[in-house]
Amino acid sequence: MVENDAARAADVARDYYDTKDVDGFYAQAWGGEDIHVGVYEHAREPIGTASRRTIDRMAARVGDALGPDSTVLDLGSGYGGAARRLAAEFGCRVVALNISETQNRRHRELNARHGLTDLIEVVPGSFQDIPAPAGSFDLVWSQEALCHSADRLGVLREAHRVLRPGGHLTFTDIMAAEHAPADALRSIAERLSLPPFATAARYDEQLRALAFTEVEFDDLTDHIRTHYDRLAEALHTPAPALLDAVSAAYVDTLRTSLAHTAEACHAGHFTWGIFHGRRD
Ligand SMILES: C[S@@+](CC[C@H](N)C(=O)[O-])C[C@H]1O[C@@H](n2cnc3c(N)ncnc32)[C@H](O)[C@@H]1O
Repeated sequence: MVENDAARAADVARDYYDTKDVDGFYAQAWGGEDIHVGVYEHAREPIGTASRRTIDRMAARVGDALGPDSTVLDLGSGYGGAARRLAAEFGCRVVALNISETQNRRHRELNARHGLTDLIEVVPGSFQDIPAPAGSFDLVWSQEALCHSADRLGVLREAHRVLRPGGHLTFTDIMAAEHAPADALRSIAERLSLPPFATAARYDEQLRALAFTEVEFDDLTDHIRTHYDRLAEALHTPAPALLDAVSAAYVDTLRTSLAHTAEACHAGHFTWGIFHGRRD
């Protein structure tokens, strides 16, 4: 039953990210690299700059897991912004697992443009069933992808399986705040084609149940408010490249959807931050 739900959610995510309008929006709104929440130094900072800072902040938590001898697995790797930044900065190998072939094509093109094809392997597939043997990775990494899973414990179990003993797991995700009203969140999840959101407490419980050690959560919820404000603003006066990439009808849909999500952030309905743990 859980497996059927997880397979269905994976199909929904693939269809969503392969859609021309959705791809056009995500490929434009973050500077073409990242599709995750940024860490903002100030409220007017460009989304792309803040999004890269999130990668750097996650990288700083995993210290010795990043270097020329390490292999990283990025779950739900989008257009590969994190994979390229980690490979270029630390010389590590990255396996980028992602269910959307539309995104994977763009990801491979960008890797080639940046001369990073030798360090990054883009693999099509689902994080519910990671196509890699046990103990293959020094670091499992994921940003804003687990929200698409209908079986997050299953994904974390897979992450544990493919990590070497002592390996690191770090991820960010958009989560429900502990006392957020179910109705408000349900409508947002449905609009984004997402299963019900996780909470930070639930992730913490699941990580400990899987015997991850040194489990920590860096709560950065303030930044998700700024992030959705910035995205909603970007839709007030869309850049010409965005108007070229998406249909007029989708711009209208996005305006409404992003404004609602921004409101929910201000109402305190969401939590966002960085999880970190180590495999026992
Ligand atoms: C919001 S995007 C984040 C992309 C990337 N992590 C980033 O931060 O730029 C969510 C990503 O999760 C991927 N995804 C969703 N469900 C997946 C699944 N079951 N297996 C692998 N990737 C999945 C999507 O294709 C998409 O690339």
